[in-house]
This record gives sequence, C-alpha cells and structure tokens, in this order.
Amino acid sequence: MTSNASRRLDAAASREDAGTAVADEMWSWRTADGTLKPGWALLPLRLFLGVTFVFAGLQKLANPDFFRSSSPISIHAQLVGASHTSPIGSLLGHLTSISTLVGVIIAVGEVAVGVGALVGLLTRVAAAGGMALSLGLFLAVSFRTNPYYSGSDIVFLFAWTPLLVVGAAGAPALDTWLADRRAAAPAAEPAGGVSRRAVVSTGAIAAGVAGGVVLLSGAVAALGRMFAPSTSAANTSTTTTTTSTTTTAPTASTTTTSTTAAAPPAGTVIGSTSSVPVGGSATFTDPKTGDPGLVIQQPADTYRAFDAICPHAGCTVAYQPSAKIIVCPCHGSEFNAKTGAVELGPATTGLTPIKVVRGPNGDLYAI
Ligand code: FES
Repeated sequence: MTSNASRRLDAAASREDAGTAVADEMWSWRTADGTLKPGWALLPLRLFLGVTFVFAGLQKLANPDFFRSSSPISIHAQLVGASHTSPIGSLLGHLTSISTLVGVIIAVGEVAVGVGALVGLLTRVAAAGGMALSLGLFLAVSFRTNPYYSGSDIVFLFAWTPLLVVGAAGAPALDTWLADRRAAAPAAEPAGGVSRRAVVSTGAIAAGVAGGVVLLSGAVAALGRMFAPSTSAANTSTTTTTTSTTTTAPTASTTTTSTTAAAPPAGTVIGSTSSVPVGGSATFTDPKTGDPGLVIQQPADTYRAFDAICPHAGCTVAYQPSAKIIVCPCHGSEFNAKTGAVELGPATTGLTPIKVVRGPNGDLYAI
C-alpha cells in the first residue's frame, strides 16, 4: 500500500470518527459541565408547535371551502368579517380582493414554520415566522376575544418566544447537527465567521426541506379537492344583490311568510328567495353595515336573517342544516337559528338579527 493510499484511509477513518462524535454530541442532553442543555427543556414545546402548525396548514389546504369565497368558512369570508372588527380592518379590507393568495400564504407558511420547528432547521427563523403568523391572526381574528386568554393566537405568539431567543439550543435538530459538524472541523471556519461550506450546506438542506414543504402542500391540496364531498346548495348558496328600492313602508319583522304585498317593500334587495333553499341558508352583504349576513329559510316561506359576524372574536358563522343551528368555525360557539341567541360559548352575546321581508317579486329585502 502506498503512503498516499494510507493517508486517504486515515482521513476517511478520521471523518467517520468525527461524524460519530457529532451524532453522539447531538443526542447528548448534558453540557460539558453536566447541566441540561436548554434545547432539551424546550423540546416538548418545539414539537408541539411544529405538529400544531403543520396540522393547521394542511387542514386549510385540504379543505376546498377555505378557498371558496362563497363559503362562510372561507378565508374570504373571514377577511370580510375581520375587516369590520379588527384593529387592522382597513388593511384586511384591501386583502379581500386577493383572499385566495392570502389563504395560500397562510397555509403554506404554517406548514413551513411547523416543519422548520419539527426538524429544527433555522429554528429561530421558524419561530419568527410562527410569531408573525400568530400576531397576524391575533390582530385579525382574536383581538376582541374576551377574556383575552381564551383566544389561542396570543398564546401561540408568546409560546414561540423562547425558540426565537435560543433556537434549537443543543436539542436534536438539524441546526444542532450542522453546528456540531462545524465545531468538529474548526480548520474550515474563518476566524470569527461562518465558513462558505457551512452556508452552502445549510442552504442546500433548507432548499430541500422547502421543496418538500411545497410538494407536501400541493399533494394535500390536490387530495383535498379529489375527496372533498360535493358542496351542498343547502348551505353555500350566495346572494349578493344590493340594488336599492324604496316605496311602501314595510312591516318591521325579522321573519316574513307573506307573498301578498302589492308593492315592493321599503329597503334594499339582498337577493332572491329562490337562492335560499328550504331548510338551508344563503349569505349576503348587510346593506346597512357592510357585514356578511346569513339568511335561513326554516320552515318553508319563513326567513330569518342575522349579522354573520360572531360576537366572540369576529369570525363568520355558518348555518348547519342537519343540526338546525348556527355555528362559529373558530371557537365553536353555537347560536339559536330562530333568535340568534347564544346556545354554547365562548360567545357571550347573540347574533344581531337583520329584519328581512319578501317582496311580491320574490326578492328578499333588508329593512
Ligand atoms: Fe370565537 Fe366565534 S370567533 S366563537
């Protein structure tokens, strides 16, 4: 054996030993002085946040209704509702025209942040992303949650804080593995800086993980569309007509069963009764407030309408025909479909009724 070959074998053996030492160091939960590495104490929190954000993002991507603007649980409906209740409502109002893009950014962002936390790659960046998403959702959706601690977004905002401060901090993570590798090869590090090789290897791994996130998000979105049940006209029909007409003074009532009025009632047309199926509902825009509204036909020829913004934290509520109840998708409040009264919290006040009446031409009027 030549001396060159012998040197190559020695170098290979030395690299293998260094790799084993790096792996051993990553799985060690004690520092050199025997204390617990902070990252191990934060590991349960990191995994919980990672799993939760991945699940939240995939759940949105898999649900076609989240992107269907006519659905009361869509990102569009949430933005419209939040634009009337949030302290950043004027900004959210501008985003309603690109609500699908906003929904995709939120969902894929949640998956990316969650994966980053789970594998511990660029952990501080993932934590900053998680805080940004949580802050945005807090301001948009749960700002008015009362008491404030019953909204989850503010809790997530602060739960990310320790990971923003210390990152993976020695716990099993790609960040830890890369750092230990760099420490095991000090000759490659420029004094006081990070080697080009370290930047390249971190960037290559980050690009691979980002590609995986995009593929996973696309696959889940496609599967969601393939296997989603077809949308029922009973709870997603939409009426958006806002033509105004004023003649005869109407009878002020939340409900109408009459079709015999000779002249159109005073008020604003919100749509046709034919778009509200018996036992189902339709959405409209309240001409007085601009809020999303919900009109229900139950039983036949009886229409009841409500402001669809949940009084708890501003999400848009939806009617569930099978249970004959109005439900908020955000925190599960339930409202009586006849009166709008709260049946189940956390909302503490009911939905605001909107008086509607049917005109002789079959249109519904908000009065
Ligand atoms: Fe919280 Fe509706 S927004 S229950």
